[in-house]
Formats: sequence, C-alpha cells, structure tokens
Amino acid sequence: MNSSRTIQIRDKAKHFGQEHIFRFWDELNDKSRRNLLEQVENIDFELMENLRNDYIINRTINHFSGELEPAPIITIPTTNTQMDKAKQAKAEGEKLLSSGKVAALLVAGGQGTRLGFDGPKGKYPAGPISSKSLFQMHAEKILALNRKYNTTIPWFIMTSEANHDETVNYFSDNKYFGLNQADIYFFTQGMIPAMDEKGLFFLEKKDHIFCNPNGHGGTLYALRDNDCLAEMKRRGIEEIFYFQVDNTLINICDPCFIGYHHLSNAEMSSKVVAKEDPHEKVGVIGKLNGKIAVIEYSDLPKDAMEARNADGKLKYIGGSIAIHMIKRAFVEQMTAGDFSLPYHVANKKINFIDENGNYVQPEKPNGFKLEMFIFDALPYTKNSVVMEIVREDEFSPIKNAEGQDSPQTAKQDLMNYYGRMMKQAGFEVDFDENGNLKGLLEISPLFALDAEELKEKLDKNFRFEGNLILE
Ligand code: UTP
Repeated sequence: MNSSRTIQIRDKAKHFGQEHIFRFWDELNDKSRRNLLEQVENIDFELMENLRNDYIINRTINHFSGELEPAPIITIPTTNTQMDKAKQAKAEGEKLLSSGKVAALLVAGGQGTRLGFDGPKGKYPAGPISSKSLFQMHAEKILALNRKYNTTIPWFIMTSEANHDETVNYFSDNKYFGLNQADIYFFTQGMIPAMDEKGLFFLEKKDHIFCNPNGHGGTLYALRDNDCLAEMKRRGIEEIFYFQVDNTLINICDPCFIGYHHLSNAEMSSKVVAKEDPHEKVGVIGKLNGKIAVIEYSDLPKDAMEARNADGKLKYIGGSIAIHMIKRAFVEQMTAGDFSLPYHVANKKINFIDENGNYVQPEKPNGFKLEMFIFDALPYTKNSVVMEIVREDEFSPIKNAEGQDSPQTAKQDLMNYYGRMMKQAGFEVDFDENGNLKGLLEISPLFALDAEELKEKLDKNFRFEGNLILE
C-alpha cells in the first residue's frame, strides 16, 4: 500500500477517534502493517460512529415501544377443517419442492461460546448412537428430500471468518455427505468491531482489531454481497427455508410450512412453539404497532408475559425458534438500498492488548458486541405466517455444554422422536414415565424420513430389541 493511502487510512481512523489502533505501528513489520491497514480500510467508520452514539454512549435505541397485541397463529391442526388446510398447504409445499423453487439456508457463523466446542458447532457429534455431526445430520435430511421429491434443494451455508475454512474443508473431506458439491454454497458473513464503553475498538493483536460476526441478521446482506441472491435467481429459487445449525430436530424444508407461507403470499414467516411456562426465556411473536415482530424475552413486560386468554392459554404463547421461510424477492428488496436492520448490544468479556502491549483477559464484561437479528426483518413484511409446531418433534437445540438445551437433552429428544416414529409406523416401543424411550434408537433420514417410509422399509415382523441404528 503506498504511503499516501496509508496516511489517508490512518487519518480517517484518527478523525473518528480510533487512532489508538495504530499504537504499535512502529513495531510492526511490513506484512503486519498491510494486514492492519487492510482491516481498517474495510471498516465503515461512519456506521461505527452512529452505532457508538446510538447504542453505547446515548443508548437511544429502544427496540420495544408501542402497542402490543397477539399475532394470529396457525395452531396444530385438530379439527377436520384445519387438517384439510394443512393438507392443502403440504401439497403446495411439495409442488414447490418438486419444481426446484426452494433453497435451504443454514446459518452457521456463530461462535458457539456457550457450548465451548473447539471448531464450528456444525461439527459437533450430535447423533445419539452414531455420533454423526450436526452438519452430517442436516446434509442427510437434504439428500433424503432430494430423493423423495426428485429435486435439488440448493444449500446455502453461512459461515464466518473464524470457522469458514474449517467448515468448507470438513464438507470436502467428507465428500459433501453424498450431496453434489455444486449444489452447496458456502459464504461468509460480515464482521463488526466490538467497542469499549467509550466506543473505542479493541486490538486483539498488535496488528488486528477484535471483530465479531455481525449476527444472524447479517445473513441478508451476506447473501447479497456474496452473489447468493443472484445464484438463487439463476436457479429459479423463489422461497428460502432458513434454519440454525444447532437444532437437532429441525424439519428441513417442511412442505406444510412452505405451503402456508407461499399460499399466503407471505414475505417472511415463522415457526413457533407453544410456551408453557410464562417465564421461559424465549422471544415471543406478537404484533407491535400492528406489525409482526419478535419481542425479546427481556423486553416483554411482566403483565403481558403472564397474561392468559379465557381458555387459560398464554396470551403471548408463540415462542420464536428461529425457523423461517423467506421469499428471495423480499431479501432482494430489503438489501437493495442503504437500509440496515437495527443492532442489538451485548456486554461481553473481550480479550485485548493494552497500551503496554500486555494481553488482558478481563474477569468482567469490558466491551460491547453488536449484532443484527434476522427476525427484525419481520416488521417489514406485508404478509407473514406464524405456524405452531410440536416442540418435541421439531425443536431441540444444542446451546449449552450441560443442562437445558445441551447435547444430553438433544440426544434424548432425538431418540424419543425416533421412538415415536417407530410407534406411529406400527411397531412396539416402550417409553418410561418421563416419556423417554426405553433403549437406544437412531434412524437416518436416508433410511426413512417419516413414519410412513419407515413402515414401508421395515419387515412387518420387525421387533425393536432396544439398541438400533437404521441407515
Ligand atoms: P446463537 O445466537 O445461539 O449463537 O446462534 P451461537 O454463536 O451459536 O452460540 P453462543 O451464543 O456464542 O453460545 C444461533 C444461530 O445463529 C448462527 C449460529 O451459528 C447459530 O446457528 N449465527 C449467530 C450466525 O450465523 N452468525 C452470527 O453472527 C450469530
């Protein structure tokens, strides 16, 4: 980089009060200087200045204000009419899948700090008996769907700087788990500098500013910036099924959900689970100022959280589980101009190099990470479907190393699900008083995607002896 460019970049940082990031300049060799300059050149200082003022110094942004009312929810069908509607929706979704109009979009750029697993979370061995990774479990579902609907579901996988190469190599080392390499698109999301309480950036190395992935809301912009939207268009994709890497029970490209969303001409739709405990720490879907929105747990007033309808059910019952259908055209529209989703701030511990060059690992949160959330796009829809699903059948994430939403709970939930599938297929299985399957069972989607397929595949004299993997 020539010296006038260097001066320009350094002046810009100085202008925005961030000249301390060049504190170790004199100690750096040419390569390190280049690295630092390239990183700084890519920072949107105007944006960072606004974020600093709005979210850290003045804290003027309030995500939750206005009038809240419940959102209409398509509940789990119980009546004949509801079942007929679900059937119609499923048929529509199957039509879209068969005609190749649906893509799967996996967000896997997170840092997985709570789980504390070394490597991309998608590599976590989640198969209850097989120890297959989350990535492999998702890949097998997509492959099974491709076969079932005689189609190709292109799979867009968002990574971030820290886990991109390891993710791509993992898929390539495993021959894409049977999928076509050409139908998988890896792309990285944006990164954003964290700031201290004064809005100053942290140096994590003498030649590198600490940045974190810009949140799953960054997906929309990353799809645009990496030409994924153009690729989707080229392939004739109209609808995108969005899911997160850590949900072991994810019902990828559920045709019924696709159908409801598409038939309603919705731009973005959501699946929810019924909250049983009003204080369960999950965002709920409601209508805020007449617009569909996810209201975060910490923003929902206590009286709304505990409010019940005449039938005793929670008024704000729809717990958001980060499963969405999104129209490609909606992503195009949202990302066409300068518009940005709002940011959310989290006070975190951030390791850094202090002014004396010492590496500091703080004991208390010392900085702020900023992230965008995908669900903040919901209020910009004209139409949006909210569909309730059975939690035990479709939602068991691995978030924590132990306790709730951990590998242990997910393994049990998976085996219980396979057990119920077997029972539904007409075979005998036993459950204990907690509803846990007696025995060990795992069914690959490549063997059977649902109870119907399982029934077809297994001999009618089959007996579950208590420890079985079906692949
Ligand atoms: P979480 O919010 O649970 O975060 O992400 P995480 O990074 O997996 O785990 P913690 O909070 O550090 O423990 C939900 C989903 O969103 C993705 C994650 O990979 C996961 O699939 N995500 C999150 C991104 O793709 N990018 C991000 O910047 C944040």
